[in-house]
Amino acid sequence: MFIVVGVTGGIAAYKSVHLVRLLVTAGHDVHVIPTQDALRFVGLTTWEAISRHPVTTSVHDDVAEVRHVALGRRAELVIVAPATANSLAKMAAGLADDLLGTTLLATSAPVVVAPAMHSEMWAHPATQANIATLRDRGVHIVGPADGPLTGGDSGPGRMAEPEHIVAAALAVVPERDDLTGLRVAVSTGGTREPIDPVRFLGNRSSGRQGAAVALAAADRGAAVTLVAAHVDDRVLDAASRHPRVDIVRVSDVAQLQRAMADAAAEADVVIMAAAVSDFRVGTVSDEKLHKADRDGLVLELVETPDIVAGLAAARRPGQTIVAFAAETADTDEALRRRALDKRARKGVDLLVANRVGWHEGFGAADNAVLVVSARGVIAEASGAKREVADAILDAMLAAQADAER
Ligand code: C5P
Repeated sequence: MFIVVGVTGGIAAYKSVHLVRLLVTAGHDVHVIPTQDALRFVGLTTWEAISRHPVTTSVHDDVAEVRHVALGRRAELVIVAPATANSLAKMAAGLADDLLGTTLLATSAPVVVAPAMHSEMWAHPATQANIATLRDRGVHIVGPADGPLTGGDSGPGRMAEPEHIVAAALAVVPERDDLTGLRVAVSTGGTREPIDPVRFLGNRSSGRQGAAVALAAADRGAAVTLVAAHVDDRVLDAASRHPRVDIVRVSDVAQLQRAMADAAAEADVVIMAAAVSDFRVGTVSDEKLHKADRDGLVLELVETPDIVAGLAAARRPGQTIVAFAAETADTDEALRRRALDKRARKGVDLLVANRVGWHEGFGAADNAVLVVSARGVIAEASGAKREVADAILDAMLAAQADAER
């Protein structure tokens, strides 16, 4: 893993030498960024020797490499140890007057901070407010421990032991990489079929579940193409910042079909979570339809192609196709029966069924699904859409392993 270790100017910096050594010995690619003050405690040579990489404190070194953001972007984990009261205040304020500051602003990796200072400084409301701000922002705080401090005093403020920091830091990183090497194509959102230049036939799909599947797959190592039809930017925010997710925006069924055909040509796994219109308007009006011109309105609707059935019929050996079905079933048994029927009818490997109604399914943060294969129900999951996404991917891997047997 690519790990950045920030070291700020406290006496506990000497303990971070051991911390870096533990990470390097465990096979991680460790890049140390000391602050100028930290170098008064432990010198550059030590950090370079122990991390086996060049070390700099300044944003003005290696400018051609755009080092002030490059390390933060590449980092999969950032640890700041020790973090002084001053450095916590700088982090809380978002100051970027050195390489560690710019790196912390540039990263989207988990950040783990190990504070170290005298007890009074730790207890000060300013420090506590900064810690609260950082926690709210998702920063993980490890320690400080209670014990002897450098001034001969004792109390909370000692930096946590390096072994403890390493264990806590590695625990916050999603360690699953069971989809590494796979290419996954996911569709999400809801198509819109034009009626005239201002109106369309659409649906209430928010795209949240498909976006969660795409993000989960990328977090687990897959290279993902996410084909999104009318999904709010906020729903796509995390996926759009993920280095392994490529987002393709589409609007109607024909565009979705083309984008998925392109993505599926390269994909090992195709997951059709989009709500696709079953019909399009036969003749789209070039001009806005006016009620004054007519006595009522009859639209001729033409069936759209079943995209996922087409992808399943054309699939390469070893490619896994997953469809979704949103059903307004009254009972679990009815949902199960419809899911099994629909999987067979579409010729897909797996079908993920969830119940929808006026108040369930679409747009909600939580979901509850059944996953069926030719063997019957192979998984059930409920909870946050991210948890459901991981369960769907687990079922997909289990089905692939089963097929290889
Ligand atoms: O038949 P139904 O619309 O319930 O099937 C839902 C599944 O089929 C979803 O995976 C959806 O993306 C896919 N679908 C499709 N093309 C259509 C309609 C649905 O691929 N025209």
